[in-house]
Amino acid sequence: MSKQFTPIYRIWHGLMALSVLGLLATVLLRKTFLSWRSNAEIIQTQLAQLGTDITAESAKVVAKAIRAPMWEWHYTFAVILGISIALRIYMVVTKQSELPIITVMKTTGMQKLKAGTYLLLCATILIMALSGTVLYFHEFLGISKTFAESLKDFHEWMMQPLILFVVMHIAGVLRHEFTTKEGIISKMIHGDP
Ligand code: HEM
Ligand code: HEM
Repeated sequence: MSKQFTPIYRIWHGLMALSVLGLLATVLLRKTFLSWRSNAEIIQTQLAQLGTDITAESAKVVAKAIRAPMWEWHYTFAVILGISIALRIYMVVTKQSELPIITVMKTTGMQKLKAGTYLLLCATILIMALSGTVLYFHEFLGISKTFAESLKDFHEWMMQPLILFVVMHIAGVLRHEFTTKEGIISKMIHGDP
């Protein structure tokens, strides 16, 4: 049987996992510690206590400026995700890997279920990458503000199925690791023996 955990496969998986987890982390920070809504309130009240009154609008500008360098990481991880997608396409073209849809068609039973989950995971990641890229370049592409706003809502909404498939994947890998004891996680890091 040919080896599954080849160096290129592990590099592809590492880049994809790092970028997706990184992208999710930037969203988590944007919605919590670096949320402009709560930080604008803190800035306004703290400055008022020090005797400086600023408008809610000015506080919002400052809060968004504090968040900006962190959000740049959304785009840095997006580039890493793009590299991992390009690598996977290269692997398919050079027959070092197959399209997830082909794996679903070829397998049966539990294997089909696993392959189906990977297909959904890959499809969701691809949708996030495409919608995010169009969103990023919307002005350059001449896309209307209304369409860009709907696309942003869609991009944000799609994060929910993505989180579900990522959680299912990690739970499935851990289950596999602890039931079959094949050392699948170690193989993903160090390769097939
Ligand atoms: C957001 C993070 C992650 C993403 C997007 C992701 C994505 C994927 C995808 C799409 C596959 C299927 C590969 C194929 O087509 O052959 C896969 C396989 C695998 N992943 Fe992940 N992964 C992530 C995190 C992790 C983590 C944290 C671990 C370790 C705990 C892990 C361990 C594995 C293993 C062992 C396989 C091979 C499973 C098998 O073929 O039975 N992944 N991953
Ligand atoms: C796993 C992948 C991704 C996830 C989970 C994700 C999640 C999100 C979320 C939740 C938002 C809305 C944030 C808010 O308004 O509160 C957002 C915005 C955005 N994302 Fe992503 N994203 C991903 C990938 C990408 C990629 C690959 C790009 C490509 C450049 C991208 C570009 C953008 C852009 C341009 C915005 C709008 C930012 C703004 O209006 O300030 N995203 N993303």
